Amino acid sequence: MPSYKLNINDKDYTVDVDETMPVLWVIRDFVGLTGTKFGCGIAQCGACTIHLDGTPTRSCSIPVSAVADRKIRTIEGVSENVDHAVQKAWIELQVPQCGYCQSGQIMSAVALLEKNPKPTDADIDGAMQGNLCRCGTYQRIRKAIHRASELI
Ligand code: FES
Ligand code: FES
Repeated sequence: MPSYKLNINDKDYTVDVDETMPVLWVIRDFVGLTGTKFGCGIAQCGACTIHLDGTPTRSCSIPVSAVADRKIRTIEGVSENVDHAVQKAWIELQVPQCGYCQSGQIMSAVALLEKNPKPTDADIDGAMQGNLCRCGTYQRIRKAIHRASELI
């Protein structure tokens, strides 16, 4: 079994897994970070979104062999005390309903605001269009991203 060195949330890990294993399984089952969720498994819903070198990436559809020596950030790495501006805004505006999609939503929102601290509605819709929410929290997500941009 090949061995891979991964950097996740600024910590180094070594995992012995098949080269085709999706990063999502490695993060959840081998590293034990379960905040990143499985939704569709085919890069269509965004529930599994992580940052790869700062770019939102669907971890269900990228093999572990493609991420060695790159910087991975998961929802657990957004802040130590749930006090990132996006998390504060999410709490203030009570964004989640069932919550299942929300790790992925937050990861996409954080990446958007890191690139564009004052996004328009159109910027938000463009950046978030790949993150589906079966509960339909889209209006609250948009408001919370505007609120987070005030808190940054
Ligand atoms: S689980 Fe990865 S995009 Fe749906
Ligand atoms: S809050 Fe339920 S799927 Fe988004």
